[in-house]
Amino acid sequence: MILIGLPAVGKTSFYRERFAGTHDHVSKDRLRHSRRPSRRQEQLLLESLSSGRSVVVDNTNATAQVRAPLIALARAHGAEVVGYYFPTEPADALRRNRAREGRERVPDVAIFAIRKQLQPPKAAEGFDRLFTVRLDEPTRAFVVEPYSS
Ligand SMILES: Nc1ncnc2c1ncn2[C@@H]1O[C@H](COP(=O)(O)OP(=O)(O)OP(=O)(O)O)[C@@H](O)[C@H]1O
Ligand SMILES: [Mg+2]
Repeated sequence: MILIGLPAVGKTSFYRERFAGTHDHVSKDRLRHSRRPSRRQEQLLLESLSSGRSVVVDNTNATAQVRAPLIALARAHGAEVVGYYFPTEPADALRRNRAREGRERVPDVAIFAIRKQLQPPKAAEGFDRLFTVRLDEPTRAFVVEPYSS
């Protein structure tokens, strides 16, 4: 399972709320000590897939190029590939990011840079299913809907 969205849209919170009990969590945010985080991430993904465990890749995963090796690895293991796309306005991401503390907080420019790169996911990349996720702030609920591209 691959999460796609700007920093501070709620990806990690979504993972914790919906999938922490059932899916492994792979995120480059947890590999800051690693010399080659992308490679390390692929190793961890491979471990989960080889053991037959469900796994979530929780990064911005903003471009088709970044997603391609993840999708290929999952498909090679016969895993279903599901994408959750968070189509957030940059203003919302900026506001939530500014409310964060310490290491969690990223520079505003990172949000603009990723926004510029962001390619919405397409089924043709190899996704079996795609959904959009929106955070309804008044109720703090994640709203998940099927997404076709
Ligand atoms: N259910 C919720 N309701 C309201 N606000 C929320 C909710 N979940 C998360 N947030 C807000 O959104 C912010 C970002 O959440 P989160 O850390 O999950 O984002 P992220 O997409 O994982 O960011 P990053 O890409 O930087 O890791 C949180 O700091 C919090 O303030
Ligand atoms: Mg996160």
